[in-house]
Amino acid sequence: MAKVYIVGAGPGDAELITVKGLRAIQEADVVLYDRLINADLLKEARPHAELIYCGKSPDHPSLSQESINDLMCKYASKGRTVTRLKGGDPFIFGRGGEEAEALASSRIPYEIVPGITSGVAAPAYAGIPLTHRDYSSSVSFITGVTNLEEDEYWEHVAKSSDTLCIYMGVRNLPKICNKLIRHGRPADTPIALVHWGTTEEQQTVTGTLQDIVDAAKSMKNPSMIVVGEVVKLREELKWFESLPAIEPLVVG
Ligand SMILES: C[S@@+](CC[C@H](N)C(=O)[O-])C[C@H]1O[C@@H](n2cnc3c(N)ncnc32)[C@H](O)[C@@H]1O
Repeated sequence: MAKVYIVGAGPGDAELITVKGLRAIQEADVVLYDRLINADLLKEARPHAELIYCGKSPDHPSLSQESINDLMCKYASKGRTVTRLKGGDPFIFGRGGEEAEALASSRIPYEIVPGITSGVAAPAYAGIPLTHRDYSSSVSFITGVTNLEEDEYWEHVAKSSDTLCIYMGVRNLPKICNKLIRHGRPADTPIALVHWGTTEEQQTVTGTLQDIVDAAKSMKNPSMIVVGEVVKLREELKWFESLPAIEPLVVG
């Protein structure tokens, strides 16, 4: 029985994958890859490796999680080394946990190769440190698609960490801002949306909880929402925008 490597591809910039993750792509017989990975990474696979798209999109039909689990198990049972390549980190809103559970219950050997999650990378490329001695001593990673109607949950979120990184929240931005204000975050709390962080398509808008909805009207998926006083630091620290165009990853 061969092994399955559940690998975090990082947030978008192909060079932000780990050395171990890159090796797992280079040595795989089969690569099952997600929508948000940088396609340049697939050029690292062996010429005869099978590359299978398993992406899920909020707006389009896609392979079910069960089918993806079955594919991993099927190929590994046939003795083929499988790399399951996922955007960011597999265990942060990546369903890596469910995939590992499926492998564990089928007694298929596996390894998890962590990746840089977009909640860390997109703010970093936008010049927003998630913690800072003067502004924030705690950070939460939360989803913007579940628990939206649960006031108790948003009360907890609003009062918990100094900095919030909200995944998959663009569509629900108005609701999220309302909930945070209603449960105690000041309406003038700084907020940023970072679209396609770490890539040449990166775009950032900033504002406050009370005015960001208008400012961010044109922002689409994938975007990271960052809430908290640390967002103020972007004005001084926005290093990425002043770089020359990104050089593509050199293969070979
Ligand atoms: C299903 S979650 C996957 C998260 C992924 N496992 C990770 O660790 O980054 C997809 C969400 O991640 C965020 N995301 C992923 N890549 C991003 C990027 N390059 N820039 C900004 N946000 C990103 C967006 O909020 C997007 O809706």
